[in-house]
Amino acid sequence: MILKDFRIEYQENPVGIDVSKPRFSWKLVSQEENALQTAYQIIVTEEGKIVWETGKRESSDSVLISYEGLQFEASTLYEVTVEVWDNKGNQALLQGSFETGLLNGTNFSAEFITHEFPSEETACPVFIKEFEVEKEIEKVRVYATALGVYEIKINGEKVGDTFFAPGWTNYKKRLQYQTYQADKMLQKQNKIEITVGNGWYKGIFGFAMTPNIYGDRVAALAEIHITYSDGTKEIIKTDKSWKVTTGKIRSSEIYMGETIDSTFKEETLYNTVGYSFSKDHIIGQESDPVRITERIPAKDYIVTPKGEKLIDFGQNMTGFVEVKVKGEPGQKITIRHAEVLDKDGNFYPDTLRQAISHDIYICNGEEQTFLPHFTFHGFRYICIEGLAEIKLENFSACVLHTEMEETGSFISSNPLVNQLQSNIQWGQRGNFLDIPTDCPQRDERLGWTGDAQVFAGTAAYNRNVALFFTKWLRDLASEQTAEFGVPHVIPNILGNQEGAAAWSDAAVIIPWVMYQTYGDVRVLEEQYESMRGWVDYITTRCGSNGLWQTGFQYGDWLALDKEESADRTGATDKYLVANAYYAYSTDILRKTAGILNYIEDVRKYDDLYVKIKQSFNEEYITATGRMVSETQTGCVLALYFDLAEEKYRKRILESLETNIANHKNHLSTGFVGTPYLSHTLTENNHHDLAGVLFLREDYPSWLYSVKMGATTIWERWNSILPTGDFDTSGMNSLNHYAYGSIGDWMYRKLAGINQLEPGYKKILIKPQFIKGITSVEATFNSVYGEIKSAWSCKDKWIKVNVEIPANTTAVLYLPEQDQPMELGSGCYHFEYATETSLEIDRFTFDSTLKEILDEPLAIEILNQYSSELLNNPMIQFAYQLTINEIIASAPGESEQLFKMVIDTLNRSQNEVLTN
Ligand code: BGC
Repeated sequence: MILKDFRIEYQENPVGIDVSKPRFSWKLVSQEENALQTAYQIIVTEEGKIVWETGKRESSDSVLISYEGLQFEASTLYEVTVEVWDNKGNQALLQGSFETGLLNGTNFSAEFITHEFPSEETACPVFIKEFEVEKEIEKVRVYATALGVYEIKINGEKVGDTFFAPGWTNYKKRLQYQTYQADKMLQKQNKIEITVGNGWYKGIFGFAMTPNIYGDRVAALAEIHITYSDGTKEIIKTDKSWKVTTGKIRSSEIYMGETIDSTFKEETLYNTVGYSFSKDHIIGQESDPVRITERIPAKDYIVTPKGEKLIDFGQNMTGFVEVKVKGEPGQKITIRHAEVLDKDGNFYPDTLRQAISHDIYICNGEEQTFLPHFTFHGFRYICIEGLAEIKLENFSACVLHTEMEETGSFISSNPLVNQLQSNIQWGQRGNFLDIPTDCPQRDERLGWTGDAQVFAGTAAYNRNVALFFTKWLRDLASEQTAEFGVPHVIPNILGNQEGAAAWSDAAVIIPWVMYQTYGDVRVLEEQYESMRGWVDYITTRCGSNGLWQTGFQYGDWLALDKEESADRTGATDKYLVANAYYAYSTDILRKTAGILNYIEDVRKYDDLYVKIKQSFNEEYITATGRMVSETQTGCVLALYFDLAEEKYRKRILESLETNIANHKNHLSTGFVGTPYLSHTLTENNHHDLAGVLFLREDYPSWLYSVKMGATTIWERWNSILPTGDFDTSGMNSLNHYAYGSIGDWMYRKLAGINQLEPGYKKILIKPQFIKGITSVEATFNSVYGEIKSAWSCKDKWIKVNVEIPANTTAVLYLPEQDQPMELGSGCYHFEYATETSLEIDRFTFDSTLKEILDEPLAIEILNQYSSELLNNPMIQFAYQLTINEIIASAPGESEQLFKMVIDTLNRSQNEVLTN
């Protein structure tokens, strides 16, 4: 047995943590089956002196064990040793360390400084300090923050490799500072420069394009702590001795882009002035930082019909483009951004709405590399202006997001499904940039609570989001009030609005997802007031029937079942949705009260839950078991949230089926129904139907956008119409993760990876087949270690591979076998015969001509045998006809020809499937 992945507050050897009781986690890796930890011991030392020692504790706990020792000193290194014993007689050791930060914002002795430039000045101020160092240096730490977004340079070199510090919070309540290691960066003569951009603090933000949301002047606060080899210390800190100038960044706005003039030289250094801002709200960075996590090379150079010069990076993403160039002095290069081309192949930046997203560079005549600092864009294509010759190798797209460890993978035999999984993952990468945003490209990029809530489960499979959501949930709690409840966006820049169902419920649901995924009880403890506050808020809004039926609601946002008006809230009764969530959140709250041992609350919210359910049944389900809103979402909520009385469930399920059948086996759900629709079908013996919906390739469906070439999840089921035209509602992002919430079902139901106990201490593996997918392989790296579920069903033979990490147990349901199995840790392989065949013919005589011609192989065959058909100018009028219809109007040889095409396509498809 060995130990690995030692984590302190989810991080590896963190530097600059301000948690008074950090928690320790480790993983056991064992070659032996059924390995369990039997005991552990933790010792924490500071310079060899023990500050905490657990002694040998007989316990299987290996995740999030809280420090209970002496109080920490600021800026101090602590070393941790953990020793573990297992049930096989093995023993192993693991070591790690952490260094505290300043521990408290008030420990900053520096002053906030700002400039006195006129308000019209758009250039980013650069705060400068020069100083000398005489002695030999042992250690240098930089502690810094800003009102704005900042970058620090020491002697011309950027300190750290992160972007968008200090991140986005409600700065008036919480302002994060960052810690950087800068041991080797100082020389004898030193120059420190802190450049501050407007960022979220003062930049133009929100769909009303409001400037100065948190303040009208940026400011900086920093301390450089130098420890010399002789043991003495010195602190260089921001104060009025610093100077300020404007630099080469002539303007920078998140929505608008950045202008860098490399010819600009400002010789004058101005005095700085102090800026009064309370240090009480300053806290150490809580989430993982934003970094460039990948550089994508330019894929294609395109000159559009309009003559625009474009580069295609092949992937819709969030970040910016690095440009290498040698231009004439003063030459201006403009980089514009867009997610998509229009149907004629021209640049189409309209999905960005008012976000201009232009990065402008003025060259100085030398070989230069340009990269913006304080802006980001959502794009796949760039349009380049001002450059005569474009060489692909001079452009690379930098992908930016909060750096979250990858934890999940999902691959199947179906290439379209694999592309969907990739789109979901890119949606997460594109929208987890410090806070969970709705979209990364247009004049929005806000922390919409509803979007985050519906996607949180899927997000937690794909990447470790523990710290990301811990920070954002604290943001949420900090902005919640008894009067207005939980805001619709966090940080809240939309002002006071009454809380809305499914959006504000993020306050309750996301802590629960964190607890289930990581076994993190502290999230529940910390968020408990906020969770309860939200449920209590709803209760105060309820009428005498015990239901919430007043005020604004988003309903089943963007559902397709209410097309008769511009109303985007769907056909499901909005208050049905609201009360379904009221019950769901109350259910989670009462369970949370139980976990935290708040006995009185358990009783109180148990009672409330029973009452809401009863009132819900009375109001929204008739005495004969019919939903008042017989929509897909209405039925799904009543079933999935377990609201309908047992005797009504059958009829509601039938209504759901009928509704789906009436939509010719298509979904019509919006933000609220979509995450639960497939789960509801699977859990109620309609997994096959869930499979049919999942593998649909025509509108509306998940794979429709994939077939239309999407590389991220769209905001709408029909963001791009089959004709190639765009939805024109003015709200049409191509990178919106909400419908990516299907990922949760893919991991839980297709791969079958579920937790039976929080944190996956006990695992349920229950893969379930659907027709059209012949194999799935998924992994999830839980806090105990990697879980794997892989299966294939081909040629009348089932194979299953399962891996269960040490120190956990599992229950395995093998497909088509009656009895579940109890498993300990280890790798397991099963194979057995079956009569089931999962192959399907994707193409039939009912496929449309377009569906057939979308396949390059079909074009190849038709070119060979009937090129006149493809060259017929009338062919586009037949695109939407089925092959049967075409044959009926043109009998003769065409039947044989199409039979050959269809057979060949199906054969090749099934070969792909079974490979
Ligand atoms: C956002 C959504 C959000 C919604 C609220 C939109 O503008 O992009 O995703 O949840 O507003 O209804």
